[in-house]
Amino acid sequence: MPEWNQETAKHLIEQAHGQEKPVTTALRLLQDYFRHIDARAIPLLAAIYNLGPAEVHGIISFYADFTTSPPGRRIIRLCRAEACQAVGADELAAHAQKHLGVKMGKTSADGGVTLEAVYCLGLCANGPAGQIDGELAVHLDPEKLEKLIAGPPEEDAP
Ligand code: FES
Repeated sequence: MPEWNQETAKHLIEQAHGQEKPVTTALRLLQDYFRHIDARAIPLLAAIYNLGPAEVHGIISFYADFTTSPPGRRIIRLCRAEACQAVGADELAAHAQKHLGVKMGKTSADGGVTLEAVYCLGLCANGPAGQIDGELAVHLDPEKLEKLIAGPPEEDAP
């Protein structure tokens, strides 16, 4: 995950602003690059978009997809949409929260893992579906999920 860099953040925001894109585009660029929206980006966004800092905070908190916290080293995403629910996604989510000791949508205190809900990964016929460190996973059950979580993160894999 890239470290905070004021110049990079400013460049990303100015890029969106220069193309007359909404502030949400700048937020998306920041989050894609830094993997979260650092609090230090808020005054930059406010200045460039001529908004108050509270307005920027409001926009960030309105969209569930934006996060101001850095993600964990592992990111477990589980589909909570209807087709996956019909084949056990709720039970799987409950198991994952218990197994990882972290609530859905949160990152563990040690920064080790983030557990996120997603709403359809396009794998509806093969649910419950999820994504473990970016890798899609299908036909998940508690045992398979634990096995995937126990494996190394993708970047550490041989
Ligand atoms: S509903 Fe889960 S992948 Fe579509």
